[in-house]
Amino acid sequence: MTKISCTLLLALLILSGGCFNTIDSEKDFVTKQFSKVESQYDLLLDDAIKYDKNPRTIDENGHTHWATRDNGGFDWTLGFFPGSCWYLYEQTKSVKWKEAAEYFQNMHKDFKSKNISHDLGFIFACSYGNGYRLTKNEEYKQVMIEAGNSLLQRFNPTVGCIQSWNITGGWQARRGWRFPVIIDNMMNLELLFELSVLTGDSKYKDAAIAHANVTLDNHFRLDNSSYHVVDYNPETGKVRHKHTAQGYAHESSWARGQAWGLYGYTVCYRYTNDERYLKIACSIADYILNNKSIPSDLIPYWDYHAPKIPNEPRDASAAAITASALLELDLFTNGRYKDSAKTILKSLASDAYTAKIGENNHFVLMHSVGSIPHNNEIDVPLNYADYYYLEALVRLSKSEI
Ligand code: GLY
Repeated sequence: MTKISCTLLLALLILSGGCFNTIDSEKDFVTKQFSKVESQYDLLLDDAIKYDKNPRTIDENGHTHWATRDNGGFDWTLGFFPGSCWYLYEQTKSVKWKEAAEYFQNMHKDFKSKNISHDLGFIFACSYGNGYRLTKNEEYKQVMIEAGNSLLQRFNPTVGCIQSWNITGGWQARRGWRFPVIIDNMMNLELLFELSVLTGDSKYKDAAIAHANVTLDNHFRLDNSSYHVVDYNPETGKVRHKHTAQGYAHESSWARGQAWGLYGYTVCYRYTNDERYLKIACSIADYILNNKSIPSDLIPYWDYHAPKIPNEPRDASAAAITASALLELDLFTNGRYKDSAKTILKSLASDAYTAKIGENNHFVLMHSVGSIPHNNEIDVPLNYADYYYLEALVRLSKSEI
């Protein structure tokens, strides 16, 4: 092929629709990816049923690691596998996925009445929240209400926030923090906002708004990146420390943390129409998408300041969360973020990130990172990477209709 025809071909490819060509429409793309996801999750579900456990990742010996380690089986990722089953049900309408979601969410139902973690919001919104959205089952609503009431017990009105990690036990108890709030905690607000809609009681959304406002005041730097942990004095509400736990350094930008903030403030805008939340969500999105360390496939390294970029692990989970959040933010910004979300999804759907059927211990996505400073879950599949990938695919299919 001559140089001129090569250039013409390239120009035609670009003009034909960026990352999706004309015959591979968004809906076709989603259908194709879901068919792969369903084949892989058929196998993962077989594993989960065989061991009667909720899958989380792969351990250092190559075995499936189940979401049941601390606090009598409590694990912050418990909602994601049943949540993925709900997305499979939504997409395929196959009752098999509804039954799977119900069975596996029932395993963590009793945690609804224990205020042991801020992750109650994550866990119950992804599982029972999706279940209620799709079935309107009143029992699910009651479970969500109980979980929300337990979560509210961690709200301190002096600080104006929900406490994240516990300080008397658990994996971060030795840091000397008194009231740690992590940017991830923004993800627990969706359950609270939704409960105010479902019950008509404003106490849930009042706490969520206070938390979002205090976090807006204290978690963000001038460049719109966020700290991972802000530690407060629980008696005065004053900030004691701005630290990291899972990032490279206190002043670095942990990739998944930026994704949690983006997703969390987009949800806050959905429920409140408060322009400050839209502004910060767009600013975070722009920080991520314009970052000098983000590769052209838009799958970030695990920290935007990781010292050996480009020889650092990528984090597909951060990319999946970002793609899903961008698709919602796109609806509030006249189409500003859809192309970037599609670029991420196309990258995740490629052989570089989507495992072959039967491999990767039957998780869909490869190459995520749990916590490098803790030498934990490095370059592995994670149930939450799969969950947000499926959510983003569902959102993409709806955005075209
Ligand atoms: N919320 C825990 C994490 O993102 O690793």
